Amino acid sequence: MSGKWPTRYRNYCVQPLHFRDIGQIAALERRVFPEPMSWKQIWRKYRSPHTVYLVVKDHGRIVAFFGFEVIDQYAHVLANVTHPDYRRQGLAAFVLTAAEPLARDRGAKAFLGEVRLSNTPQLRVLETIGWHVVTEIPAFFGNGETAHIVMRIFS
Ligand SMILES: CC(C)(COP(=O)(O)OP(=O)(O)OC[C@H]1O[C@@H](n2cnc3c(N)ncnc32)[C@H](O)[C@@H]1OP(=O)(O)O)[C@@H](O)C(=O)NCCC(=O)NCCS
Repeated sequence: MSGKWPTRYRNYCVQPLHFRDIGQIAALERRVFPEPMSWKQIWRKYRSPHTVYLVVKDHGRIVAFFGFEVIDQYAHVLANVTHPDYRRQGLAAFVLTAAEPLARDRGAKAFLGEVRLSNTPQLRVLETIGWHVVTEIPAFFGNGETAHIVMRIFS
């Protein structure tokens, strides 16, 4: 399925990000992140040819998304979120895995991301799908929290 855009996960519909959906992404970011990206920041990423957002919808409602941008050989993680009402259904594992061939097609050799030390759920998800913590950067986040630097090297 190399490079093929997925269309469904369970009963949900999978799409690229559309302009009209940026508001929903921004609202989810505000709901779950201490330092969310604003509508305008997401819009700028949306317009960039280097950015991909994979969006999962349940009848028009965004239930999960994963955004990344390809910079040289790396696909840098912008964010992945699963709506609180839709967790533990494998949605995060799905979006992160389904995005891998899309990133590879754009020339990336690996995903690279930063995860807060306190974010056990995300670290567990990544562990289950073959990502690795490669190092830590103290005081990486705005609130002084340490980041785990995580990678998934494509095979
Ligand atoms: C982290 C997050 C994306 C996980 O989303 P999710 O769709 O619920 O994750 P999945 O259902 O794909 O989980 C896959 C596996 O990861 C592990 N896992 C996921 N959430 C977990 C939790 N809260 N506690 C322990 N293990 C967890 C489990 O092994 C799970 O498999 P299982 O349900 O069969 O046991 C979600 O909690 C979230 O949106 N958090 C806020 C935003 C965030 O922190 N994003 C990441 C940083 S960019």
